Amino acid sequence: MRRIKVKTSREYSVLVGSGAVENISCELKELLKAKKIMVVSDDNVAPLHLEKLLNRLCGSFECFTHILKSGEEHKNIEAVLGILSHMQEEEFDRNDTIIALGGGVVGDISAFSASIYMRGIDFVNIPTTLLSQVDSSVGGKTGVDFGGAKNIVGSFYQPRLVICDTNYLNTLPENIFADGCAEVIKYAFINDKELLSVIEDGIKKNIDDIVYRCVCDKNDVVSNDEFDRGLRGLLNFGHTIGHAVESLSSYRISHGSAVAIGMRIVTEAFEKVGICKNGVTEKLISVLKVNDLPLDCGYSVENIINAVRKDKKKSGDSISVIVPKELCKCEMEKMSFEKLYAIIKEVTP
Ligand code: GLY
Repeated sequence: MRRIKVKTSREYSVLVGSGAVENISCELKELLKAKKIMVVSDDNVAPLHLEKLLNRLCGSFECFTHILKSGEEHKNIEAVLGILSHMQEEEFDRNDTIIALGGGVVGDISAFSASIYMRGIDFVNIPTTLLSQVDSSVGGKTGVDFGGAKNIVGSFYQPRLVICDTNYLNTLPENIFADGCAEVIKYAFINDKELLSVIEDGIKKNIDDIVYRCVCDKNDVVSNDEFDRGLRGLLNFGHTIGHAVESLSSYRISHGSAVAIGMRIVTEAFEKVGICKNGVTEKLISVLKVNDLPLDCGYSVENIINAVRKDKKKSGDSISVIVPKELCKCEMEKMSFEKLYAIIKEVTP
């Protein structure tokens, strides 16, 4: 097991490796004042992993469980209110803790609940999907979808501890694993050539090293721009178009698939207009295909840009776009919707 120290306003460890969760009780006893723990999970993950986790915790803490409905369509304010009511009923106080056991949706809802209950209680994240291990569990973004817009209500709230036990990834359905591969590929194409060569050697085969490397990449970014005022925007490579595709599909297209489509569209488009060096799209497409990720969605450029206009990162008539320049090198550029439309139109019906 390896330990990464995330250096945000609240410093915390991310434990990475197979079996990383085994020592959770000792870790938490040293770290927390909690007497009670609310373990939040969902109806997919709980039957597989909840009992084992409770067995590890129950000798040291009074444990409660709260099971959410799985899926992005349930990532809403009602889910948060359910957790808050449950904690209030069980008389949770300011020293008590929420643990999330699940993917990005469980993590985001639980972390947001922890950030507002009694103005903030401790939060521990045990991400069980590749996507949440390499991305959403680290960096303190919390929130829910609202009014048709993704993650529009939320907060920055750093966890006390994140445990990325790669054994959890063994039970993931292939399509959920592929979703996480999109985020892994994202890190490589933003600025990590070495990661790209490990990916090309096979993501599953090198999973411990890959999760570790992605968490290090994320740490480099969030430790320098915790509140997303600049550098952190780079992590949105493929996401602006991706979020639009996700919401146009009413979340039938998963986050990872949508990000894969978004990365392909922007890379191909910027390569076509000569802003990105030749050959990047070909490499990207080959890595996406090997990892069973889609390249197309069929939505028109008009529909995509209309959905992009709802993105919380827009400012007036423009938005920050992550522009691939060459292999494993992206830059952030503020761009009018009109210009983005014209470029994306090059490769979209
Ligand atoms: N998932 C992108 C970020 O944490 O900023």
